[in-house]
Amino acid sequence: FPGAEQWVPDGGGLRKLQAALKDCRGCDLWEYAEQAVPGEGPARARLMLVGEQPGDVEDKEGHPFVGPAGRLLDKALVEAGIDRGDVYLTNAVKHFRFERRGKRRIHKTPSVGQIVACSPWLAAERAIVKPSLVVILGAVAARALMGPGFKVTERRGQPVELPDGTAAVATVHPSSVVRSEEYRRDFGLFVDDLRVAASLLP
Ligand code: URA
Ligand code: SF4
Repeated sequence: FPGAEQWVPDGGGLRKLQAALKDCRGCDLWEYAEQAVPGEGPARARLMLVGEQPGDVEDKEGHPFVGPAGRLLDKALVEAGIDRGDVYLTNAVKHFRFERRGKRRIHKTPSVGQIVACSPWLAAERAIVKPSLVVILGAVAARALMGPGFKVTERRGQPVELPDGTAAVATVHPSSVVRSEEYRRDFGLFVDDLRVAASLLP
């Protein structure tokens, strides 16, 4: 894949970035998805949450975390005492990757090539928002932000640093909690990790 670089504007704010995202052809995913889903939230958010990629609902509606994983995230944020309105929410990959099964579109994890191709968008968002803390939601976001070798399962809920020194906390992806067979336990652990993040905010 050529990567998103050539579509990312050199300067400007979130609006300009959002507008440019529509035209991105940095990997193959634009072709199958309905639309690119940009990040959302205040440009001066202290907290940035990074998910994987839009899901089926997000792809149709054009907003991040508005489907089942988003509802769970909303609930967990409330329990952790974090106001969603204060948070900048985005994804490591901006187009939905899926497999067709009859009428259904089944989520497919983006490849490393797609994650790397899309990473200039996330870098640009980070450069504009400059969050004091980043929450890494799951393995794809971890691959995008920490590179290879970082294991969310081993490092979740502890303060870590992104390669550029930005403070971060990793946790699981909310979709994994939605699907969990031990929902109560896993939801509680997810909230615990978000509480750690809240406690690290200046
Ligand atoms: N899962 C994600 O990672 N991001 C979304 O926006 C929705 C579901
Ligand atoms: Fe561009 Fe990312 Fe969409 Fe690929 S997934 S086309 S790199 S915005």
